[in-house]
Amino acid sequence: MARCQPVPFLPMPDPDIAAGAPSDLMDKVVGLCKRRGFIFQSAEIYGGFRSTYDYGPLGVNLLRNVKNAWWESMVQRRDDVVGLDAAILSPPAVWEASGHLSNFTDPLVDCRNCHQRWREDKIEGVCPNCGSTEFTPARAFNLMFKTHAGPLEDEGAVAYLRPETAQGMFINFANVLQTTRKKPPFGIAQVGKSFRNEITPQNFVFRTREFEQMEMEFFVPPSEADRWFQYWLDERYSWYTDLGIPTDQLRLRHHDPDELSHYSAATADVEFLFPWGWDELEGIANRTDFDLRAHSAASGERLEYFDQATNERYFPYVIEPAAGATRTMMAFLLSAYREDEVGGEARTVLQLHPRLAPYQVAVLPLSKKETLEPLAREVLASLQPHFMCDYDVTQSIGKRYRRQDEVGTPWCVTVDFDSLDDGAVTVRDRDTTEQVRVPVGELLAEVRRRMDLA
Ligand code: GAP
Repeated sequence: MARCQPVPFLPMPDPDIAAGAPSDLMDKVVGLCKRRGFIFQSAEIYGGFRSTYDYGPLGVNLLRNVKNAWWESMVQRRDDVVGLDAAILSPPAVWEASGHLSNFTDPLVDCRNCHQRWREDKIEGVCPNCGSTEFTPARAFNLMFKTHAGPLEDEGAVAYLRPETAQGMFINFANVLQTTRKKPPFGIAQVGKSFRNEITPQNFVFRTREFEQMEMEFFVPPSEADRWFQYWLDERYSWYTDLGIPTDQLRLRHHDPDELSHYSAATADVEFLFPWGWDELEGIANRTDFDLRAHSAASGERLEYFDQATNERYFPYVIEPAAGATRTMMAFLLSAYREDEVGGEARTVLQLHPRLAPYQVAVLPLSKKETLEPLAREVLASLQPHFMCDYDVTQSIGKRYRRQDEVGTPWCVTVDFDSLDDGAVTVRDRDTTEQVRVPVGELLAEVRRRMDLA
């Protein structure tokens, strides 16, 4: 429940957050997302549904790659973290015990002039709609979406859409412990949708009412909590930079004591330099034993760990790296966007890390002539089991290169008439535009080599 607290004033940074990035970066990236099929306004044909978005053919690939990269680093490459996929719907008891029913609120005010409603800590005392400075006193607005499970809409049927994935991991702590025989330090990781009835959703997919989180609860002996907190700060910072976010666009910001959530002994945010300034990508918190104790007391179940070596029974402390997948995808798009010139011609290029790019390879037969198609399709089929590939035959080769640059495809493979004689294709690099000839039989190894170098 790390609700945003007012952040200390920071001077507005230079909006050109990346070398070669335009100052109207946000508009350009939003335009690109729509034009090329990354992100669409939800229910657009009905006028759009505010603050909800659909991920199109390219966006779904990019978002999936972000989540896969997180899962690989947090679960697959470790033997001390296991996965979980808990339900999105849950009964009030969970949210009563976690404190969300009473604490998961934002301060809501009404403008006395135009009657629009705002989140008080986001408007600096002036109505963004009419400029009035007269507001009703703030009241606590609970952000959870409430619904009814089953055919009766009475109090007994009340259910909530989860506002964070974290509680699913706490209420399954004993199940995971018993079935995996893990012992602290160990973690449970989860990726999935969360829902918050945000008063002022804003900045495209930065703050929406439906979004995806990537969270991990790492259970540790209390005496080791400080050490693991630092460990996860370092790990998580490196994850973003390894995937291409430059260090001058990324920082760790430790929360002041008066900013901490009620459960937290220490929190630091991984912040990205968005066009409007530094803002949160991920919160890393030492949640202490708050959640396990609360669920244990409310459910009557034992949620302690019994250490057979020391004969000790204790509630583990929890270090939680909690990231937003959709928000992180947006940061990757913003930091990858460039405009440059190639051969005297302007181009837009997304310099996404090859692992994140919607397509790793585009196979482009030089001409539409049927003679090239069988070899081009053969090349495509040899790469498809290993990489996401696009296949494009329309328009000139130059235009097709530009189209692939604009969506971040790191390598274009061109099949031309010489290929029919020499059995080789041209591999073009997105960032350098350098072209080299590679025998078809060595193409898969060549793309793999380039991926490994990235
Ligand atoms: N379990 C702790 C927790 O949920 P949080 O800071 O409220 O902490 C974690 O959320 C991350 O989820 C945030 O850093 C952000 O990336 C993402 N997130 C939270 N609210 C969001 C929203 N309304 N829209 C998009 N992403 C959001």
